[in-house]
Amino acid sequence: MARSKNGSDDPAAGTAGLSDPTFGVRHVAIIMDGNGRWAKRKHLPRALGHKKGVEAVRNIVRTAGEMGVEVMTLYAFSSENWSRPEEEVSDLMGLLRQYIQSDIEEFVQNGVRLKVIGNYRALDGDIVAMIDNAIERTAQNSKMTLAVALNYGAQDEMLRAVRHLAERVGEGELDPQAIGLDDIANALDTADLPPLDLLIRTSGELRLSNFLLWQAAYSELYFTDALWPDFDKAELEKAFQSFGHRERRFGGR
Ligand code: FPP
Repeated sequence: MARSKNGSDDPAAGTAGLSDPTFGVRHVAIIMDGNGRWAKRKHLPRALGHKKGVEAVRNIVRTAGEMGVEVMTLYAFSSENWSRPEEEVSDLMGLLRQYIQSDIEEFVQNGVRLKVIGNYRALDGDIVAMIDNAIERTAQNSKMTLAVALNYGAQDEMLRAVRHLAERVGEGELDPQAIGLDDIANALDTADLPPLDLLIRTSGELRLSNFLLWQAAYSELYFTDALWPDFDKAELEKAFQSFGHRERRFGGR
């Protein structure tokens, strides 16, 4: 079926945006970059930049829910972020604890389902327990899914998927020649999520930094100079509007 501008199969969706503030974006992911530079520009400690970054997370998650986004995936801690100074890693983990603790009730009330992608079981035991509890408490929510990437790296995600498929082959469950794209997609952490429509990166860097490499195959990319702590509703609206003007061809003409 011919795709409309915003990638939807709905023939009326070409007019999305008039009534749909997301312009047809079901799944948006964000590489939240620039906390450190935000703090530096204001002559503040880096830790304050991250603290402001969490406020921006809270605001943008609420905004996305109000706008009708189905899934928002946020790159909170990459598998490479462990190489930052110990104090900064510990600050980020502290902020993560606080965020889950303080916002879980709001997720429950607003119908937000929490999901985590990445090998989060390698985090401190108390955080893992907190996350598991939040996932369980919000499992039935269906207004929006907030997928937080923790100890996530796309190459690591693909490696884990390959190992999983290889195990199934080893057990005689799967014929190597019969492995299809769906088998790979279903072995990734994002298996239950809709396709990624839009990938945003803040702070002017033009890289994907090992984020959702498989899922971004046909996503629209949007780069903004705004630093993450400054990324607000108006910035998200600009990104959605830009998406609304893209012609998505998915490899076709
Ligand atoms: C980039 O800033 C940001 C990160 C390290 C990840 C994002 C983390 C947060 C927004 C806070 C924690 C998140 C949650 C969900 C509780 P940077 O330090 O790389 O900035 P810089 O490139 O300007 O130094």
